[in-house]
Amino acid sequence: MAEPGAEEPDERLLLLEEPPPQAELPRRGPQSARAAPGGAVRQCGEPGLEEVGDSEDSAPEGDGEDEPLLRAAGSGRGRRAGAAWDRERRAAAGHTGHTADMNIFLDDPEFAEIILRTEQAIECGVFPERISQGSSGSYFAKDPKGKIIGVFKPKSEEPYGHLNPKWTKYFHKICCPCCFGRGCLVPNQGYLSEAGAYLVDEKLGLGVVPKTKVVWLVSETFNYSAIDRAKSRGKKYALEKVPKVAKKFNRIGLPPKVGSFQLFVEGYKEADYWLRKFEADPLPENTRKEFQSQFERLVILDYVIRNTDRGNDNWLVRYEKQDDGLDLSDKDSQWTITKESIKIAAIDNGLAFPFKHPDEWRAYPFHWAWLPQAKVPFSQETRDLVLPHLSDMNFVQDLCEDLYELFKTDKGFDKATFENQMSVMRGQILNLTQALKDEKSPIQLVQMPRVIVERSSTGSQGRIVHLGNAFTQTFHSRKPFFSSW
Ligand SMILES: Nc1ncnc2c1ncn2[C@@H]1O[C@H](COP(=O)(O)OP(=O)(O)OP(=O)(O)O)[C@@H](O)[C@H]1O
Ligand SMILES: [Mg+2]
Repeated sequence: MAEPGAEEPDERLLLLEEPPPQAELPRRGPQSARAAPGGAVRQCGEPGLEEVGDSEDSAPEGDGEDEPLLRAAGSGRGRRAGAAWDRERRAAAGHTGHTADMNIFLDDPEFAEIILRTEQAIECGVFPERISQGSSGSYFAKDPKGKIIGVFKPKSEEPYGHLNPKWTKYFHKICCPCCFGRGCLVPNQGYLSEAGAYLVDEKLGLGVVPKTKVVWLVSETFNYSAIDRAKSRGKKYALEKVPKVAKKFNRIGLPPKVGSFQLFVEGYKEADYWLRKFEADPLPENTRKEFQSQFERLVILDYVIRNTDRGNDNWLVRYEKQDDGLDLSDKDSQWTITKESIKIAAIDNGLAFPFKHPDEWRAYPFHWAWLPQAKVPFSQETRDLVLPHLSDMNFVQDLCEDLYELFKTDKGFDKATFENQMSVMRGQILNLTQALKDEKSPIQLVQMPRVIVERSSTGSQGRIVHLGNAFTQTFHSRKPFFSSW
């Protein structure tokens, strides 16, 4: 089926009950007391309390990543107290550019502990290691013993980040911006998309995205500009020679980088590997059902966030066939009791939340739509899990607000663009709700006409815009003329 291209709002405009538009999305009670969902609370000092001098140095990274995260108002420590505490921490650490005071996860001590271990590892020389594959700077973060515990993707090293170590992307951007990249995505906000995907996963109870939050880290293995490295060296030298002067620097070390930190999941392999295996050696019925249920959750996640990068290398599967040793017959293996477990992990969610549906000629398909699992109607279990949420307008509004709290922390945040992102997401949710109610299959879902649900700027009602008969999925195996990320 071909996909018509133009995204023209057509004749079918339906009115939709929605909360009144607000100039600024409200920060709900408990929300305002904690960090942006998926984000760290940066315990900032008040300007007056900052050390004097070397003012440009207060930027976490010399590349303009100077947008403070949410202030920790109401976090249990007043801002003034927080500032003093911040200064003490920084002084105690010799203000060497470490990040302990930037990564505060008051509502998630387990995650805070993992980040602390990563920071401790870095301090004792066990640095994050760049993942060799991939088109951007992504790093395996380790604990002090060298065990991989997370995947960190700094904003500035994303495909179109200015410090992307893989220069070909930079070349694409400069020389032929219209032919490469995804014109429907907000550039250089992949780390928010990663954290946003986890937020959606968590709110819907899908459980397929490893925990992912916004974190600040500094490591000499990251890609820094020569200027940043020279500045850091110069200040260290000054500290040795003229400690009095050097005390005025806010930071001696390299600038911290903001990025997404995803927990590392162990025992998983790329889906491609297992899919081939399962083709040759089909799963037992119980495990097949379990896999189908996990697969449906992946579909729901991808569809809601309109992931544009779900190849079969960007989701992982862990399949364990455990022999519990209860062998009732030595010879006859059919009596051997085995426990099997299968689990999907949706990684690499950095290219989602488009602000418009992808254009026809480079419609980024959901690659799972070609799998046999996509032909099976959504199970009752999956429908029971998500339908009550998705069909509830308040839930959807709440989801948008949580994403707003997260996305607005980026220095390039633009309210209008965010609204467009939410219009696409609400449209996806509308389609998905209908598909689940109608007991459709994933393959039928991706053939539904694209739709956006806009928030009205004038009245108390939003509107649903059906985008002609356009389809989000094209069923041909032809690749776009230009390939990209
Ligand atoms: N949370 C995780 N747990 C375990 N392994 C992971 C995790 N995230 C990533 N990996 C491993 O690291 C590899 C690269 O990760 P990912 O695809 O997210 O990075 P990337 O830099 O965006 O790469 P690409 O541009 O190729 O998509 C994956 O193929 C996977 O093997
Ligand atoms: Mg990948």
